[in-house]
Amino acid sequence: MRSILKTAIENGKQITQSGTVATYIPELAKGDRDALGACIFDTNCNAILEGDFDTKFTIQSVSKVIILICALIDNGKDAVFSKIGMEPSADAFNSMVKLEIKVTHKPSNPFINAGAIVCTSLVAGDNGIDQFNRIHNMMKRLSNNNNIEVNNSVFKSEKLTGNTNRAMAYYLKGANIIQKDVEDVLDTYFKCCSVEVVVQDVARIASVIANNGVAPWSNERIIPEDVNRIVKALMMTCGLYDKSGQFCIEVGIPSKSGVGGCIMSVVPNRMGIAVVGPSLDVYGNSIGGGRVLEELSRKLHLSMF
Ligand code: DON
Repeated sequence: MRSILKTAIENGKQITQSGTVATYIPELAKGDRDALGACIFDTNCNAILEGDFDTKFTIQSVSKVIILICALIDNGKDAVFSKIGMEPSADAFNSMVKLEIKVTHKPSNPFINAGAIVCTSLVAGDNGIDQFNRIHNMMKRLSNNNNIEVNNSVFKSEKLTGNTNRAMAYYLKGANIIQKDVEDVLDTYFKCCSVEVVVQDVARIASVIANNGVAPWSNERIIPEDVNRIVKALMMTCGLYDKSGQFCIEVGIPSKSGVGGCIMSVVPNRMGIAVVGPSLDVYGNSIGGGRVLEELSRKLHLSMF
């Protein structure tokens, strides 16, 4: 498996130059376009690290999975999906076009920005600080790493330039879908996106989801089984935004991408995989990371289809 991963990364490196790093959050423009690294963490706790695996990156939209887990545990399925849909949007991750068109004004799913911002507002806590602590603690438990922290430069950069997110959050407050203070909710969401990690942290998070919500290193149940099932289903159908269908065909593993260049993938009952490559395709997904996962899926027969 190690040599297959190594070759996949070498092949992925051939195409990193055909993408671009995210620049709409200025701090992300500092990402290394050529970096490509990965970690496989299986449900027996074996880890394989290859390529630029020590690259630090902000978790960005991969945090939407952890936010959803917290929102579902804290509110239950019915309450969460009374405010957010469970269908792919086929629009860009930051699109707000459907919010006004739909009669209910509900964001299409929890993995587009609008849906994740609503999910953030639902997490238990009296204020944004409590809510962030709840999500941050969940990230630490799922990654088995107590030392993951917010990158403050990225957080400030997101807060300063996050006007599209701000616009949709105020719209959702106007539509009575968000009840809490909008700026507080946005600060929490931006902080979640700005948590800095390495691939091994994310692969461990994925391994818990792969292991039906139980941490492979301690046998502790962290995610209730019904929540874990919902999360995997939404990762499969909505995890790569308007490229989710193509990714299903080419890779076929529940996954979630982020504009920091990470893709987190879950191979049920077998392993968690995390890849990082800050060079992105037009949809905002890691271009080299997608190629690595496609090759791994083909050679290791990982597709669920
Ligand atoms: O809200 C944003 O735009 C970013 N903090 C996260 C977006 C993201 O990662 C989309 N992923 N592909």
